[in-house]
Amino acid sequence: MRKPLIAGNWKMNLLIGEAVKLVNELKPLVAGVNGAEIVVCPVFTALHTVGQALKGANIAMGGQNCYLKESGAFTGEISPQMLLDAGCTWTIIGHSERRQYFNETDQVLNQKLKFALASGLKVMFCVGETLDERESGKMDEVLTRQVLHGLAGLAESDFARAAIAYEPVWAIGTGKTATPQQAQDAHAFIRGLVKKQFGETVAGSVRIQYGGSVKSDNAAELMVKPDVDGALVGGASLKAQSFADIVKNSVL
Ligand code: PGA
Repeated sequence: MRKPLIAGNWKMNLLIGEAVKLVNELKPLVAGVNGAEIVVCPVFTALHTVGQALKGANIAMGGQNCYLKESGAFTGEISPQMLLDAGCTWTIIGHSERRQYFNETDQVLNQKLKFALASGLKVMFCVGETLDERESGKMDEVLTRQVLHGLAGLAESDFARAAIAYEPVWAIGTGKTATPQQAQDAHAFIRGLVKKQFGETVAGSVRIQYGGSVKSDNAAELMVKPDVDGALVGGASLKAQSFADIVKNSVL
């Protein structure tokens, strides 16, 4: 039904040589896997070289972020067209680190999402609550805002190229994974929001990845949940064997 989408978010890690070494180790480890869609998201400076190394492999490449214009006087930014040019087919938009450290708002992220899709990229759009928000009972409200504002204006057809990543901020890089039931509950809630806004067909087909301290030993128990359709993996995607194990453990 929904093919698991397993993506490695390398964040601000790995120099070009290290990035190439990692994908060259990863390729044979996942070569036979076709039950999952596999993506790696290197830093911008490594994209072109990694893209060359991935030629012919069953691993796609994504950016970690991109701007909402094609080109022009936007110092320090990168456009969807440039990601495509470097060999990407995907990009992450709205990672909590972008929201938190770079003040990216729901409104800006919505513009970025729409522009990236219109430019031909596939997008993993991230949402997720902080610990404070969860503990003060605001989780549903936060997810509702992030999902409805973030996805506002998308057409049904856009969802063929848009996935949602649920990443509770308190689980990112902390070693504290959401329990499979916590993940399932949040994913079901998000799918319900999508259903209300975009209808049953979209809700049934959109993939919702879980992110936050996914490791090879917890991937399977998360992935078995009915509304968990993949993973967005940070730390554990920086080692070929652990990422390959996550990929394999996600194929049910
Ligand atoms: P983590 O990061 O797997 O290191 O917790 C996940 C993410 O931020 O995408």
